[in-house]
Amino acid sequence: MKNITVIGSGTMGNGIAHTFAQFGFAVSLVDISETALQKALATIAKNIDRQIAKGTVTEADKASTLANIKTFTKIEEGAAQADLVVEAASENVNVKLSIFKQLDEICPPNTILASNTSSISITQIAAVTKRADKVIGMHFMNPVPVMKLIEVIRGYSTSNEVCALIMELSKKLNKIPTEVNDYPGFVANKILMPMINEAIITLYEGVAGVEEIDTVMKLGMAHPMGPLQLADFIGLDVCLNILRVLQDGFGNPKYAPCPLLVNMVMAGHLGAKTGKGFYDYSAGTKELIVADRFKKQGVAVIS
Ligand code: NAI
Repeated sequence: MKNITVIGSGTMGNGIAHTFAQFGFAVSLVDISETALQKALATIAKNIDRQIAKGTVTEADKASTLANIKTFTKIEEGAAQADLVVEAASENVNVKLSIFKQLDEICPPNTILASNTSSISITQIAAVTKRADKVIGMHFMNPVPVMKLIEVIRGYSTSNEVCALIMELSKKLNKIPTEVNDYPGFVANKILMPMINEAIITLYEGVAGVEEIDTVMKLGMAHPMGPLQLADFIGLDVCLNILRVLQDGFGNPKYAPCPLLVNMVMAGHLGAKTGKGFYDYSAGTKELIVADRFKKQGVAVIS
């Protein structure tokens, strides 16, 4: 595999393009927005500068990585020569189904089509193509150039051969691929999201405050970040959507999102990206400041 097309150049797409380009693949980065593409190239350059400062790559690596990336706003131009497409467009089922239908028509018959979706069924995506055996999940973690794991998701019809190829390819990116089956939330979010939801329920019930909950999980369980801070970084809207996918997919009320999470999303307090979630990011400092709403501790939080 030489030619990789990445669809979507947002948070994940730019990291995926960066990683493939860094390991010598020819990358076509496609987005409907030219502004997003330009922003992605600037982010990639900035992230390589960070790697240079750490001494893990050189200026020459920066030039060759950037030279390996071409950008496109038209999918038919960016995907026509692809050996592998990794789709990292917005997490919306209709957007993804429409992209995969197009890819199936545009790409050569042997092209493998992968999705970086965090919660949409790979089997459902594969069903809109005529090559369900060549559709697979490649769930990278954020930030992609740093995080080692790729959750490789085997759809109902994914072939053994395609799965083996993607496992091998992932190792060439210096990642550790882990194979899982296609059920709601896969493994990562099936375990992470109930933990985040339970942390929010713990706050909602007044058992402890924001800092206390995060401190217990950081110091007690050796997590690098508490679950409430992590939820702010993932985006509370994203957490809510994934919990609903789990609840619908398994038909089990244990995944029901905490009413406090639902309220925060309705209020537009989505975490770091909107400046407010469980913490307040509006000061622009690295210091963690608990949001005003949660400064009172205990039962007062929900009164
Ligand atoms: P994002 O919102 O940062 O970027 C999405 C990009 O897709 C935007 O630039 C948008 O213009 C583009 N786009 C939308 N429709 C398109 C189309 N039809 N063709 C081409 N480009 C299109 O989203 P983000 O966070 O990068 O997420 C992308 C995917 O990765 C989602 O499926 C998400 O669930 C998954 N994911 C996200 C993680 C995260 O931490 N943000 C972690 C792991 C997976």
